[in-house]
Amino acid sequence: MGKVAGANLLIVVSAVVGVGMERRMNMPGSAVSILGVALALSLIVNLALVYVALRPLDDLEDTARRLATGDDGARVPPSILADRDIARVGETLNDLLDRLAEDRARERRLAAQVISAQDEERARVARELHDSTAQILTAVMLQLHAAARESTTDPLNARIATLRELAGEALEEVRSLSHTMHPRVLDDLGLAAALEWLARQTRDQAPLDVHVATAEIEPPLPATVAAALYRIAQEAIRNVVRHSQARHLDVRLRRDGKQVVLEISDDGRGFDVARAEQRRPGMGLFSMRERVTLVNGRLDVRSRPGDGTTIVATVPLGT
Ligand SMILES: Nc1ncnc2c1ncn2[C@@H]1O[C@H](COP(=O)(O)OP(=O)(O)O)[C@@H](O)[C@H]1O
Ligand SMILES: [Mg+2]
Repeated sequence: MGKVAGANLLIVVSAVVGVGMERRMNMPGSAVSILGVALALSLIVNLALVYVALRPLDDLEDTARRLATGDDGARVPPSILADRDIARVGETLNDLLDRLAEDRARERRLAAQVISAQDEERARVARELHDSTAQILTAVMLQLHAAARESTTDPLNARIATLRELAGEALEEVRSLSHTMHPRVLDDLGLAAALEWLARQTRDQAPLDVHVATAEIEPPLPATVAAALYRIAQEAIRNVVRHSQARHLDVRLRRDGKQVVLEISDDGRGFDVARAEQRRPGMGLFSMRERVTLVNGRLDVRSRPGDGTTIVATVPLGT
């Protein structure tokens, strides 16, 4: 209002001065043209003022649009022309966005800590199962074997045989559980072998035609990258088994220039990705994203209802 009033006052003053000069110089008839010029000037000045005053609103709108399309770094640019109130709205919005970004970063760090604590715990339990429980069960089997040789009666023999069978099953289960929690094959033979193992297990669990294509990756992947990709594959495959009703499942691992790419695709019923991520019913997609972010990678979830699903994890390699 101050700017508009000031500008109009300026116009009125110049018009008055103009008319005064016209009187003194005694030039009749030019009053009309002076009025015309003054009115035109008034129009131009007012339009310019309104334009300048409302420009910062465009900036606000532009920032909002960039935020909506996922540009989290968008901020309202400072403007010396902005009206004080509008400038304050912009500053408040920027403050809020900064705080939101900080919270998000904290959430990220927390998620990373939870994920790595969970992995360590799993590895510990897996080691314990493998080194302690499985060893004890093996010893039990050996003792039963010896007892069977020493036993002389048929009913006792039969009972020992049953016990050995049960102990064998328990041993199998403990080994499998240990492996699911932390696949040693990942440490010993690498990601490709671990993915093959995962595929075999999936074939046993579900009526799925699982196909694995892995290229030799030289030099071997860093352990953190291999572990992250393995967990992503595990989670993605779990989703395929649980949700997709697919018949075919493809797991591909390849090196593509300076990055490694893991792709898991199914020919199942697909889903609306944006809706699922907003709803966040489970932790699967979320934890896959967090895991890949921890190794500076990127996760693409490509799916549409009725059109199968492809999950692509891309991780840059240092050298
Ligand atoms: N391969 C897939 N095929 C069909 N739907 C899927 C697939 N993967 C994920 N979804 C959908 O996305 C949702 C979110 O998955 P996720 O975050 O892993 O949570 P959860 O598996 O616990 O439901 C699932 O509930 C499911 O509807
Ligand atoms: Mg899931």
